[in-house]
Amino acid sequence: MKDLIQKLPKAELHLHIEGSLEPGLMFDLALKNSISIPYKSVEEVRNAYNFTSLQSFLDIYYAGANVLITESDFFDLTWAYLLTCKAQNVVHTEIFFDPQTHTNRGIAFKTVVEGITKALQKAEKELGISSFLIMCFLRHLSEAEAFETLKQSLPFKDKILGIGLDSSEVGHPPSQFERVFEEARKIGYKIVAHAGEEGDSSYIWEAINLLHVERIDHGIRCDEDEKLLDFIIKKQIPLTVCPLSNVKLRAVKSMDQHNILKLLHKGVLVTVNSDDPAYFGGYINENYEALEENLHVNKEELKTLAKNSFKASFLSEERKRHFIELIAQY
Ligand code: ADE
Ligand code: ZN
Repeated sequence: MKDLIQKLPKAELHLHIEGSLEPGLMFDLALKNSISIPYKSVEEVRNAYNFTSLQSFLDIYYAGANVLITESDFFDLTWAYLLTCKAQNVVHTEIFFDPQTHTNRGIAFKTVVEGITKALQKAEKELGISSFLIMCFLRHLSEAEAFETLKQSLPFKDKILGIGLDSSEVGHPPSQFERVFEEARKIGYKIVAHAGEEGDSSYIWEAINLLHVERIDHGIRCDEDEKLLDFIIKKQIPLTVCPLSNVKLRAVKSMDQHNILKLLHKGVLVTVNSDDPAYFGGYINENYEALEENLHVNKEELKTLAKNSFKASFLSEERKRHFIELIAQY
């Protein structure tokens, strides 16, 4: 099974580039940029990654991002992730970035986008990996700040495919951002949003009905509402599920209690993703392996999950079909 997980072509649809910052690179960049970080060693960093909730993770994740200063830092961060994609046979990736985490520290929007984009272009040419970029609004910040970020994105519209919503979920429902997402849709951006990670099913309803999302990020609490579950199945609204993240942040008690396969069997279009791999102990293959070890996912289920990753992507119908046919041959 490990062999099949490795070999299957896969798409990743839920990956925060800032969450792929490995402790080694964090130390190198801290030294280069003279940024102080509250750790003495890589081991001490790893020991600090003991989370009790989404917020306990976010506090450390935003602090880690402080070491990213120059365009080359964003390039190096992204390139390191893409090399792992290559090693794990991820052939297409749709990457989130959080502009406000950087612009609020005085880093120019352009520095962030150019650094990430140059690595994505190099990966397309040299590694054969295709990609799209999705910028997220931080939901713990205001609607006005989201509007300002939307405005800043306009000169880079050709490099950004869509808009997402992330950060602290509970207390910051999608309804607070209805108007800015309406504007984003008018501009032509694709829309996704984190919902139903820690928040209840009402957050997922709002993401669907008010933001008009094409995908839900996480969405694992959709099974608390029968009507919502039926709706998601009927409309085939994809969920980008992140198993290791859910257990690390205690959204799910343990991997053997994760509902991803139950949702799959009910007909939900679920996909497997790594979220913030440097913080949660694994990239995409480790997430698939966790399902094998704890939920005993079988070969056909694995193939369906890999096919779903392309079905749920923003690739053209032709590219989707190409990869789905490839997976069918395994
Ligand atoms: N930002 C990075 N990872 C996140 C997650 N799992 N939920 C919400 N915001 C995030
Ligand atoms: Zn996420």
